[in-house]
Parts: sequence; C-alpha cells; structure tokens
Amino acid sequence: MFNAQPKFITSATKLEECPPASLPEVCFAGRSNVGKSSLINALLNKKNIARTSNVPGKTQQMNYYKIGNEFFMVDLPGYGYAKVPKKERERWGKSIRNYLLDRESLSLILHVVDVRHEPSQLDEDFFYWMAMNEKPFSVVLSKSDKISRNKVNQSKARVRRILKEMNIEIPILPYSSDSREGVPEIKDLISEFVNH
Ligand code: GTP
Ligand code: MG
Repeated sequence: MFNAQPKFITSATKLEECPPASLPEVCFAGRSNVGKSSLINALLNKKNIARTSNVPGKTQQMNYYKIGNEFFMVDLPGYGYAKVPKKERERWGKSIRNYLLDRESLSLILHVVDVRHEPSQLDEDFFYWMAMNEKPFSVVLSKSDKISRNKVNQSKARVRRILKEMNIEIPILPYSSDSREGVPEIKDLISEFVNH
C-alpha cells in the first residue's frame, strides 16, 4: 500500500475545496511543529514530499497526497500557533472542524502530540471532541528519539490516563522520524482503517 507512488494533488482551505471523496483518507492533526508533515514523509519514505520546517506554522492549508490509487493522506495545518492572527486562526479552526466532522471519506485521524510535552488543553479538547463525535482516531507521540525510553513510557501512560478519564480506548503510538520507531505500526494501523 505504501509502495505505490505518492502524488501531491491539491491544497484546500475548506471542505468545499477538497477533491471528490472518491478514496478513503487519513489525516494528520495536532499542534504546530509536532511533526505531522515529517510523519507523512516517514510513512512514504520520501525526504520532502510534505514540506517541513523547524519554524511552527509551516503547513497552512490542507495538503492532499494521493497514494497510488488507494487512498489520500491529508496534511493539516497545526493549531495553537500564536503568530497567526486571531481572526485567521478562528477561520482556520472552523474550516478544519468542518472538515473533520463532515468529510465522509475520512477513515482515520492521526492526532500527533510531541512526546516531550504534556497534552495541552487544546489537545484534550480535541480528544474529547473526536470521541463525542465518534470519529476514528489514534494518538501518535512524536519525536521519541528526543527522550529516554523511560520518559517515553511515562508520557504514553499519561496520555492513556487522560483518555481513560474520557472513556476513550485507542492506540497510542510512540514514533520518531529519526529512528523510525513506530513507522511499521502506524502503517499497519492505516492499512487496517483504509481497507476495513
Ligand atoms: P506545522 O506544519 O507547522 O503544523 O508543523 P508540523 O507538525 O508539520 O511539523 P514538521 O513536520 O514541519 O516538523 C517540525 C520540526 O520537528 C522539524 O524541524 C522536523 O525536522 C522536526 N521533527 C519532526 N519529527 C521529528 C522526530 O520524530 N524527531 C526529531 N528529532 N525531530 C522531528
Ligand atoms: Mg506541517
């Protein structure tokens, strides 16, 4: 599935601009700079098909990648980026919420959280809101190369606790674009949801 040629299709700013919902799709959500675009590159084994940056706020639109003729990957702009003007942020938040709620072909939402940081209020709100709306989502704990194994496990346990309080039981996958930890597991998860 992941060996098929990936191709950039389009950038959308709202649901109406997304391509026809002809294939299942997986999207990547989370705060700015957590590594959503890097994760797409890691899964596709490409250096730079999705543009990344060490400056938060790189991805500004919903970028569509078509993988062979099988599914779409959608790189979403990050939230919580203070430098984007408030009005713009609100407009964005609204478009992304619409997309997440109403895109019929959305098969899986991968919510990326930096493993070093406690989930923010926005992350927790996101978990809750996904669960309330019965959306299929999983949590990816990115940049696992940056801290010790012990700390990674602690972080995973902390996220599991937060989710459990909301009665949510979903996969929580540590991942690193550097060591490639988690890449096979995330691929398996995507295959499962796309082919279900
Ligand atoms: P926005 O588009 O701004 O929302 O950010 P993003 O979530 O797409 O993050 P991006 O993939 O651009 O990565 C942000 C920075 O983190 C870049 O400098 C990446 O090289 C770095 N990065 C991403 N994933 C990892 C990882 O697993 N390990 C390490 N060490 N660095 C990573
Ligand atoms: Mg990005």
